[in-house]
Amino acid sequence: MATNSKTVIVRIKRQDTPQAKPRWEEFELPHRPGMNVTSALMEIAAKPVTRDGKATTPVVYDSSCLEEICGSCAMLINGKARMACSALIDQLDKPVTLEPFSKFPVIRDLSVDRSVLFENLKKVKAWVPVDGTYDLGSGPRQFAQQQEELYPLSRCISCCCCMEACPQFNEKTGFVGAATISQVRLFNAHPTGMGMKVERLQALMGDGGIQECGYAQNCVEVCPKDIPLTKSIADVGGQVMWQAVKDFFRS
Ligand code: SF4
Ligand code: SF4
Ligand code: FES
Repeated sequence: MATNSKTVIVRIKRQDTPQAKPRWEEFELPHRPGMNVTSALMEIAAKPVTRDGKATTPVVYDSSCLEEICGSCAMLINGKARMACSALIDQLDKPVTLEPFSKFPVIRDLSVDRSVLFENLKKVKAWVPVDGTYDLGSGPRQFAQQQEELYPLSRCISCCCCMEACPQFNEKTGFVGAATISQVRLFNAHPTGMGMKVERLQALMGDGGIQECGYAQNCVEVCPKDIPLTKSIADVGGQVMWQAVKDFFRS
């Protein structure tokens, strides 16, 4: 079929069930100024007909906030891990190809199961502990300079782009990935959170821990929130090393 500059061609890798064989479908959409990948997917959902005129099912994808805050719409766009809601069609090479993340189980089409990140965050106790719901009084003070350093780390939206792009994040290594390590840095530096510092560092020792990182820096390049992931890895790597030395002399 002939294309024209007023339309956009989108190729999508589809998969009906977690076990089904993937297949490609191509759609031709009218070009609209300012359109992004999510709005293109909405357009396809409203009229699920392929470029060669066959009726199909609407493409399944995750999305919620539409402003790069919820982290749900991450996918491979032209082979790169990024957020669909902030990927402007005019800034992408054509045809635009959309695929689900390759390192996470596909649920359907572009929707994947990213619960591994939440399991990893549980492993390192990535939270500030509180003893109850009663009034605990005011918390310890934090210097403004420290707040400024830690705030960027708190911007993680759990999108998993850093894990998808990481060559070390795979089933063989069981590597926890950069997002989890960065949260360890955040909570270990928090005046209340640091109470569980030793447990967090010990969770990052051994198989799947921080030593799996090859420092390839792919993670920091794809992070949509510009989180200084390699700095976090270096910082937490130092903390883990000191903890291992302390544990050795204590044993
Ligand atoms: S620095 Fe490289 S190996 Fe380490 S988490 Fe980032 S992408 Fe993965
Ligand atoms: S660190 Fe960045 S890329 Fe990784 S999950 Fe958080 S926001 Fe996404
Ligand atoms: S829809 Fe929330 S980050 Fe894209």
